[in-house]
Amino acid sequence: MSQAKTAEEISKHVESIGPWFHQIDLGDGLFTRSIAPSPGPQPLNHPVPRWKKIESVLPADLSGLRILDLGSSDGFFSLEMARRGAKEIVAVDGAGKAIKRLEWVTRHLGLSTIRPVLADVYSLPQDLGEFDFVLMFALLYHVKEPLLCLETVSRLSDTLFLETIAVRDEENSHLKLQLPRTGVNVIPKWFPTTRCLKDMLHWVGYDEIREISDGQDERPIYKAVRKELA
Ligand SMILES: C[S@@+](CC[C@H](N)C(=O)[O-])C[C@H]1O[C@@H](n2cnc3c(N)ncnc32)[C@H](O)[C@@H]1O
Repeated sequence: MSQAKTAEEISKHVESIGPWFHQIDLGDGLFTRSIAPSPGPQPLNHPVPRWKKIESVLPADLSGLRILDLGSSDGFFSLEMARRGAKEIVAVDGAGKAIKRLEWVTRHLGLSTIRPVLADVYSLPQDLGEFDFVLMFALLYHVKEPLLCLETVSRLSDTLFLETIAVRDEENSHLKLQLPRTGVNVIPKWFPTTRCLKDMLHWVGYDEIREISDGQDERPIYKAVRKELA
């Protein structure tokens, strides 16, 4: 922790590098979004309500593991992985300002196990290495080429935890594009059916695909595993 700085100095700095997509606990009663929240429909404590659904389905002890948090944004999930003892978390995001915020958070909290990396999912650095698992939360619906994105991810680890928005339909394999409503949201979004999601995961090489969320949520969480080739 940067003890030398006052709460006022920290708040000013947090505001200057914001606005923040993630509510991150900075200690001493300071929280990023309480100081400078990004505009949008997310609650002030975003993504804490989502984390409450996710935390129990992820491994509790990550000692010794290397993890890739793809589309990390400000790093809320990377920080949770660090709390669970991961050896290294590589946090990749294509938004330079988000990576700068995470760099500051890791310095402020004195965390050496998180490595923020500015990169696009389609042109990841060659030297990232292999990972025990990849977290890909709320990213698939944003990327221009979802299948290519999943194929890229599948080369980096045999295990993927994927959370995305999906339409619950186990029969029909469709991928629907929702165009932005002018002036509201500039990013188009992909909504696959759950059948389509499983088909895509299967096609890129995962052979065990299991939903680990409750089977009702509009944001299902899948654990996809590629087993050792015999
Ligand atoms: C909706 S946010 C999700 C952040 C976090 N994973 C979560 O679940 O709260 C999507 C993030 O993905 C990043 N992103 C979108 N397209 C990307 C791409 N092609 N390569 C890398 N990052 C991307 C955005 O900058 C943004 O930070």
